[in-house]
Amino acid sequence: MSALTGRKIVVTAGATIEAIDPVRFLSNRSSGKQGYLIAEALAHRGADVRLVSGPTCLPCPLDVTRIDIESARDMLAAVEAELPADAFIAVAAVADWRPAETHTRKAEKSAQGTMLQLVENPDILKYVANLAHNRPPLVVGFAAETHDVSERAHKKRLRKGCDWIVANDVSGDAMGGEENAAVLITNDGEETWPRTRKVAIAALLADRIETALAKM
Ligand code: C5P
Repeated sequence: MSALTGRKIVVTAGATIEAIDPVRFLSNRSSGKQGYLIAEALAHRGADVRLVSGPTCLPCPLDVTRIDIESARDMLAAVEAELPADAFIAVAAVADWRPAETHTRKAEKSAQGTMLQLVENPDILKYVANLAHNRPPLVVGFAAETHDVSERAHKKRLRKGCDWIVANDVSGDAMGGEENAAVLITNDGEETWPRTRKVAIAALLADRIETALAKM
């Protein structure tokens, strides 16, 4: 039996969208593929996976419970509603900013440029990693970097307070593509996963999560 059998794992994936008005929004570039593949790999190993997902074109993986959200604030509320959990894997490309105000009616084109004021969104990963109660025993974040990948990711792990960071170099065509190269950064050091298919990265991470939860 897998160490993941019956373990509850919350995964975020896709990009959040932050409404400006009923037809316009701010968002990030993210296909959701890597997060969906991780959710699928964990479910395949027996975990009870809750996939909190921004809008994507992807079908829900087999044996995964998907919770659809749009904004970062919706994502945070959905994640909190799923706690306690054995692990939290934050793969989503959460928009760092949202419009200070969402118009209920479509704004005039001429007014857009001058009227858009932004406020910072909650950092879901940091919030969950620093919970006094209900902090999942394993909290994993992702870092998409275009340069100094490993160094920046080490710093990010400490800044966010998470246990692991999976860092990937997005200077090439990782965004929306089928392949990824990654570095797994933990308290014990780092492990490099050379460029391979995203499904293989998902399997590697699911294996590491299985090994970690077997000890918890
Ligand atoms: O700070 P940065 O956006 O580079 O951090 C990336 C990591 O933090 C990812 O795991 C992402 O899912 C998570 N994150 C989050 N909430 C935010 C911003 C990022 O959970 N508002």
